[in-house]
Amino acid sequence: MSYFQRHIFFCLNQRDNGENSCAQHGAQAGFDHCKSRVKKLGLAGPGGVRVNKAGCLDRCAGGPVAVVYPDAVWYSFVDNSDIDEIVESHLKNGEVVERLVLPANIGK
Ligand code: FES
Repeated sequence: MSYFQRHIFFCLNQRDNGENSCAQHGAQAGFDHCKSRVKKLGLAGPGGVRVNKAGCLDRCAGGPVAVVYPDAVWYSFVDNSDIDEIVESHLKNGEVVERLVLPANIGK
């Protein structure tokens, strides 16, 4: 059994050269909200869920993005209600939130 049941990584990359990056699209707020919801629901910790910061995940065109492992499901989110749905459906119950899944052709 893995140490964490699920791991979600949020790209928090900030580019200061004018190029697009997740930090310009609410990535930090999404990360903070996810972390707090996971904690509040008692999902955090060994055997549960870990919420982590990440640098650029190379799918900037869909930003802000987050990826859930070991399922390897990529999400693009807009606001806290999207995060709530990812936490409740996927991180808690293992059900992918199809409407927020990043299309396969979205890259840099
Ligand atoms: S800046 Fe977020 S995926 Fe590249």
